[in-house]
Amino acid sequence: MRILGIESSCDESAAAVLDEHGGLLAHELFSQVDLHRLYGGVVPELASRDHVQRLLPLVRQALARAGTTAAQLDGVAYTAGPGLVGALLTGAALGHSLAYALGVPAVPVHHLEGHLLAPLLEDRPPPFPHLALLVSGGHTMLIRVSGLGEYALLGETRDDAAGEAFDKSAKLLGLPYPGGPELARLAEEGQPGEFDFPRPMLDRPGYEFSFSGLKTAVMLEVRAAAAAGTAQDAQRRADIARGVQDAIVATLVGKTVRALDHTGLQHLVVAGGVSANRALRTALEAAARERGVEIYFPRLEFCTDNAAMIAMAGLARLKQGDFAGDLAIMARAQWPLGSLRAPGSPG
Ligand code: KG4
Ligand code: ZN
Repeated sequence: MRILGIESSCDESAAAVLDEHGGLLAHELFSQVDLHRLYGGVVPELASRDHVQRLLPLVRQALARAGTTAAQLDGVAYTAGPGLVGALLTGAALGHSLAYALGVPAVPVHHLEGHLLAPLLEDRPPPFPHLALLVSGGHTMLIRVSGLGEYALLGETRDDAAGEAFDKSAKLLGLPYPGGPELARLAEEGQPGEFDFPRPMLDRPGYEFSFSGLKTAVMLEVRAAAAAGTAQDAQRRADIARGVQDAIVATLVGKTVRALDHTGLQHLVVAGGVSANRALRTALEAAARERGVEIYFPRLEFCTDNAAMIAMAGLARLKQGDFAGDLAIMARAQWPLGSLRAPGSPG
């Protein structure tokens, strides 16, 4: 089986071709960051308009790179949510139209299922069951993954997501959008321990996170620096960035380790945009090594949004006959991961 994947849930337009036996044949991506930078964040209307322009050429490019024709496709997978609904509709409409024209199934994919399955694109795929730490711009979750569609949520954030905490702190430091990777870069120049930011919920039982207090703490430091005339002090800014990153990483690692110890799971998947963070990867690798736990990351370019992971999740669903049988286009701004089911299971 060979499937085309389309991603358009936020500010990346992407297309990929995945073959059941030949693996990933092509993946193309256009990032809209330059478009949104001027506004300091994603402007939904601009995102939708740009997806409309970019998606079809990206699909053509992906098919050409894969050395395949549209007629050789067995299905078309598209991100159906959660995300910006206007942006989702562009990929959904294109995916459905292509599938209809080709007479093959259209497969609506849950964006987070895509992130969770991204490590399956690598040479050493994680076995089930495993623990997954899903950390993106919109979500921070610890999930017990027993199989395709079998996701038991152990805990999530009560307020801001980890990526949001990176992005908001970066904005307070005056770093350009998108802030997460910029803050991570600045943190590398910073001294540890100069700024001891809160590690929320770490002292409480359970697997919940909370990151909204962090941005308040950062705001107070930035204001204090402005009042003291040290706001532009490069080392101080780097030290603050280091403090932010260390606080986020310590919180994520602390709760993940607790979940590993309590569940006894021997395999850990780390996915979503923040899994590209080097400090987080290093700290989780060390924690996993200490416990004899195997750890799995997507390759760096598949940590953030991409169409390869959508093709992966779509193929998994398609192989099990789990796809929309009608022409209803699906685009959901909100779509709880827990509402997904294993293919063939009731409800
Ligand atoms: O998964 P993703 O591409 O989009 C969502 O589905 O949200 O995640 C994007 C998030 C953003 O908040 C971005 O700042 C963060 O991931 N991010 C990083 C890094 N790379 C991306 N945060 C910290 N360090 C990074 N290297
Ligand atoms: Zn994402």
